[in-house]
Amino acid sequence: MNNLSVELTKTPKAKPADESKLGFGQIFSDHMLLVKYSKGKGWHDAKITPYQPIELWPAASVLHYSQSIFEGMKAYRAVDGTLRMFRPEENFKRLANSCRRMCIPEMDQQFQMESLVELLKVDQDWIPKSEGTSLYIRPFIIACKNFLGVHPADDYLYMVILSPSGAYYAEGLNPVKIYVEPGYVRAVRGGTGEVKTGANYAQSLKAQEEAEEQGYTQVLWLDGVERKYIEEVGAMNVFFVIDDEIVTPQLTGSILPGITRKSAVELLKHWGYKVSERRLSIDELEEAAKTGRLKEAFGTGTAAVVSPIGQLKYGDDVFTVNDGKIGEISQKLYDNLTGIQYGKVEDPFGWSYIIK
Ligand code: PLP
Ligand code: COI
Repeated sequence: MNNLSVELTKTPKAKPADESKLGFGQIFSDHMLLVKYSKGKGWHDAKITPYQPIELWPAASVLHYSQSIFEGMKAYRAVDGTLRMFRPEENFKRLANSCRRMCIPEMDQQFQMESLVELLKVDQDWIPKSEGTSLYIRPFIIACKNFLGVHPADDYLYMVILSPSGAYYAEGLNPVKIYVEPGYVRAVRGGTGEVKTGANYAQSLKAQEEAEEQGYTQVLWLDGVERKYIEEVGAMNVFFVIDDEIVTPQLTGSILPGITRKSAVELLKHWGYKVSERRLSIDELEEAAKTGRLKEAFGTGTAAVVSPIGQLKYGDDVFTVNDGKIGEISQKLYDNLTGIQYGKVEDPFGWSYIIK
């Protein structure tokens, strides 16, 4: 690409020796991508540089008013030796939507894709090789203007960093325990719940911390108005198998439209399951659990992949799902989604993007 400069590191780091201990988001590759924006000039000065700290003015708007957005995607080493991504154009579309909601200037999506591919080629040896591992890709944009007024900034930075990762949860594919949050809320319609902005996650930390103190892995959020309808989990969308219906909350504006969610709905429908995107109250879910009609529960997300839920706590009630074991549908979805991502099974929808 002639509008992208490349400065390679003179001190490459050692790759992780034991890929079984990668965890999530702890190690970073040798390089990153950086593109600047300033009013009048637009997006410019794109470069791949060694992974290093960045300079910011203390008044940079992102530090005070959280004008920032991000994405999460992965690069996989497929069984045929190719390097792949999963529906990456969906992530750049969602980033553009986040730009519009957060008053951040949009970038050319083709440029984002091409520059990401260049970065991945530079750091391709950082894509881990072991089963269940991948290179987590974090594109993000922050507002950098040296100004304390509450106003969209004139200067921004777009960056992409890469992190070789394993399972997001320590549980791996073992079912996680989820705490249904009765008090704090994550988002309301008209707010920023449906975009990927840092502020959504900052305000979720308190509930997450309290859930962890009680031995739960993540929070299941209820709607912000009635605190009655199920929305999503901290870092994933959520599905419940009730009798022969697979239910996931409909996208109302306060839920992140997950790319794994969308893919799961498409795959499950393709296999002939009855899938409903509808409102689901916590009371209906509890009733289904008590009467033995709640067969399975699982979350979906880029980092979390397909994560079975083995236990839910709501107030004083604790209910176990499928005896705390992974269910048949969750397992089938996990096997097929990861099968497509790693090129092990047929890709009926053409979701794999092969890096050439
Ligand atoms: N919901 C939230 C709040 C998330 O942070 C994520 C992760 O990106 C998801 C859902 C799942 O989205 P996706 O499948 O696009 O990764
Ligand atoms: C992802 O799954 O990519 C996410 O962004 C989840 C996360 C906040 C770690």
